[in-house]
Amino acid sequence: MPAPTDAVSTGEASLLRKASDIFAATFKRSPTAAVAAPGRVNLIGDHVDYCEGYVLPVALPFLTVVVGANNDTSTCCVVSVIDSGRKEATFPTPSSGQLKPGEPAWANYVKGVVANFPGAVKGFDAVIVSDLPMGAGLSSSASVEVATFTLLEALAGTNIDPVKKAQLCQKAEHEFPGMPCGIMDQYVVTMGKKDHALLIDCRSLESSQVPITNGDTVILVINSNVKHQLTGSEYPQRRAQCQKAADLLGFPSLRNATSEHVKDLRGKKCDVDVVKRAQHVVEEIRRTEECAKSLRAGDLERVGELFYESHEALRDLMEVSCPELDQLVAIAKTVEGVYGARMTGGGFGGSAVVLVKNAAVEQLKSRILSEYKGKPTFLLAVPSDGARKLNI
Ligand code: GLA
Repeated sequence: MPAPTDAVSTGEASLLRKASDIFAATFKRSPTAAVAAPGRVNLIGDHVDYCEGYVLPVALPFLTVVVGANNDTSTCCVVSVIDSGRKEATFPTPSSGQLKPGEPAWANYVKGVVANFPGAVKGFDAVIVSDLPMGAGLSSSASVEVATFTLLEALAGTNIDPVKKAQLCQKAEHEFPGMPCGIMDQYVVTMGKKDHALLIDCRSLESSQVPITNGDTVILVINSNVKHQLTGSEYPQRRAQCQKAADLLGFPSLRNATSEHVKDLRGKKCDVDVVKRAQHVVEEIRRTEECAKSLRAGDLERVGELFYESHEALRDLMEVSCPELDQLVAIAKTVEGVYGARMTGGGFGGSAVVLVKNAAVEQLKSRILSEYKGKPTFLLAVPSDGARKLNI
């Protein structure tokens, strides 16, 4: 029996059954298409995707499943049953010219994708279910966006190029919920690979797979259960500060910058916060490349050191951590068998990611349960596949 603090993935088959049953009860017929899209956890490379840096995320076994069918009208009816809450939204197809962001807020993730889908979208009915924890920094938003896009592909009988698909879902998030995110989440949710992390070059939008198959080691995610609000002012402000640094250096993005350039920024009497953000980005891009190399070489000790360095930079230079995440990382550091730990994702709450020997997982959990001030939940980040169509 899993402990109540363990989040266990429901599995694709039972999420599909649940969604299909709700669809049949609501719309009095069967869905004609079904899709799944995962959440993600980033191993390293945070707050660098919007600076065209490198990131190293994995797709999770936790999923959003969507089933649907066209309904011969010009209206989209979407039912979302996540946790125990049922929500419904109805909105017009894009051809009406009336498709705009608005209330209810949750539906903007779906509407934005419908509005940005290439080609005509016919009216449809859909049901969304998920076992991804919300607000845990595990990309439940990108998961809903990419799942919606994949459903529209299935209903239209088309396949859009995966990089284009990730870019359109990112655009949807910018325009409808209004969150100026980078490309990492939509990219890995679309293209993640079982047993691999993806090293994504956010400038060329090419990626390579980094095998994660060491059976003696696991990636444990610890949800702090502190909720963040990235659409608030902090994330856009960090993004703007990084762009300011790039502009001062005359670069399109901080991807071009080196530590020497960061020194130059100091000389330019630039705002101290802007210099700190630039230092983080330059060093985090280098750490991410080194981390991918160390993983490929099986040097987990070095991977762990890079995790800790990354956390410290996100805490002190980017200033996106919080006391709860700092405490989780500090506790993990005291446990024998932990290689490294860091906050992951946008920050201001959400989750920490820990690389830990299998044999030390129980010890780590019990130390967190006895010392962490908040209420943690644990989930195993078994690297999984990206979005896909399902058979029904
Ligand atoms: C959020 C954004 C991503 C990325 C991370 C931080 O998850 O959606 O694009 O910027 O924060 O690495």
